[in-house]
This record gives sequence, C-alpha cells and structure tokens, in this order.
Amino acid sequence: MSVRSKVVVAVPLAQSLVDQLAAHDLTVVPAGRSEGGDFESALAEAEGLLVSSNVFVDRGVIASAPKLRVISTMSVGLDHIDLAAAREKQIVVTNTPVPSDAVADLTMALIIMLSRRICEGMRAVASGRWSEVSLGGDLAGKHLLLVGFGRIGQAVARRALAAKMDVRYFDTRSSMPDVDGVDRLVDLAKGLAGADFVSLHVDLNVETRNLMGQHELNLMKSTAFLVNTSRGGVVDQAALTSALTHGAIAGAGLDVLQDEPPFPDEPLLKAPNVIVVPHIGSATRETRSAMAQCAVDNLLLGLRNEPSPFEVT
Ligand code: DGY
Repeated sequence: MSVRSKVVVAVPLAQSLVDQLAAHDLTVVPAGRSEGGDFESALAEAEGLLVSSNVFVDRGVIASAPKLRVISTMSVGLDHIDLAAAREKQIVVTNTPVPSDAVADLTMALIIMLSRRICEGMRAVASGRWSEVSLGGDLAGKHLLLVGFGRIGQAVARRALAAKMDVRYFDTRSSMPDVDGVDRLVDLAKGLAGADFVSLHVDLNVETRNLMGQHELNLMKSTAFLVNTSRGGVVDQAALTSALTHGAIAGAGLDVLQDEPPFPDEPLLKAPNVIVVPHIGSATRETRSAMAQCAVDNLLLGLRNEPSPFEVT
C-alpha cells in the first residue's frame, strides 16, 4: 500500500485546488492561519507546506516539520519565512511573483488619491461641504522615484510614464533592465531630495528594514508624498508619523504597516494626510486565483523533485 505524502495548507484554498493536490496522491491537512501548537503538530508528518505572507514560518516551525521538503508561499514577499533555516534543512522554498500589475495598479491609485486629495474630497461631500474644493496637483511632469526596480517597480514605471510623469529609480542590484524613459539614480539621497513622489518596491530584509527613517524622510521635499506597497518594515513608522505630523512631507499612501493589523492606538493612523489600506496589493479575484494556482503548481513540482521557475532556495 502506498503511503500518501501529507501537505499542510495554511491558506484558504478553493476546493478545485485542494482536489488537484488530492489527485496527486497527497493528503491535504488544512491548518488555518494559526500559529503555535496546532500548526506545529499538523506539520509533524508534512512533506509540503502552503502558506501566504501572514503565516510565519520561523526556525521553530521548520524544526517542528522534520519531513518537510517544500514550502510554497502564495506571495511575492518572503520575509515571513526563515530562508536560512530552510536552506540548512535543504527545504525548497518557492514564491508566486504574479501580482505585479495588481500591486502597480494600487500604487498608482494611492499616488492619484494623494495628488488629487480624493479622501479630503470624499470627507467634504460626506459632511455636506460639496463646494469646498481643494486643489490637487497634476501627475504630468512630476518626479517619481521608484526605490526598487524589480517586476513591480517596472510595472509602476510603465503606468507612471503613461501619466507623463518623470520616472527614475534606485536599486542596489547591479544588473537591471533598461526601460525606455526611466533613468537610474546611483545616489538615493539625491533621488529622495528631487522627488515629488517616492514609491517603495523592495523586499524586506536586513538591508531594507527601516530604509526610510527620519534622515531619509527629512531629505524629501515638504511637498512630496511617500507610497509604500512593499512591506511595512521598510519604513520606520514612528519617524513617518513624526514627518507627517510636522509637515516634513505632504502625505503618505500605505498598503502595508509594521504590524498587520495595526494596534488600534497606532499613532500613524491619526497622522495628517495618511491613506492606509489593508494590504490589498494583490487582492483582486484574477490575481489571487493566479497566485493560488501558481503556489499549488510550485508545491507539486517541489514534491516531485522537479525545479520550479519560482524557486528561491
Ligand atoms: C505579496 O505577494 O507578497 C503581497 O504582499 C501579498 O502578500
């Protein structure tokens, strides 16, 4: 009798995808999004694990899964997984770099909402002040600095160029693609000082944690806006709250926070001119369904010892 491999699925998955896994002779154990005891005991026999960015796979979780061979995350970001611990155990880790367009759309939405003061307009209408028109600014001719020029940064650049923005990027990686009309900057400080909009598109890791701190925020123009659709930890949240409160920058549009969900008394939520949305960069039906399929495909490939194009360890 063949022993079926066990996979733990810690994300809500459409039944059709659960069926795909089962059709490959896998026993699917749903583990919800819980951390701690239950999650770890579910992992004791697991060879595969499917997670998303809000399920933390730290060294302890990995230690509780001695048979684990593949961690497939339904996310671009990998900061929720201890990659070093996975490498030590020769566990294959894969991601789903699918949502570039969805995240780029949201980034542009935040840029437009900030520049056209859309939230203020909505509040004015809701409180009966229809005629109180706040003038915003055009995007055309404004300088957009993209910090990070991977797939998502490039997708934002294409949209911003269509809006006639002047687009530049900063990226620490040596070889980056040439995109017509987009200049590369080698000096982040100069880029921050010249930008009307700064948009962050980097992974969260030891080098990028608090990349935008008090010093960097103070380099920005007082009329400039910060947009973050990458990871909350890339911005020093206390420094951003202070920059907004003291008018060091004009506003911020954030899809991500250091703690998600934020604590109810998080001061940033009360800062002036901040737009916060609940980590919805990839949250479209089409994108989430493509990510889920990609994550399942990655898991199956890994369990068959076949390479996935999205292998990161
Ligand atoms: C990603 O894919 O990393 C998005 O932030 C959703 O988690």
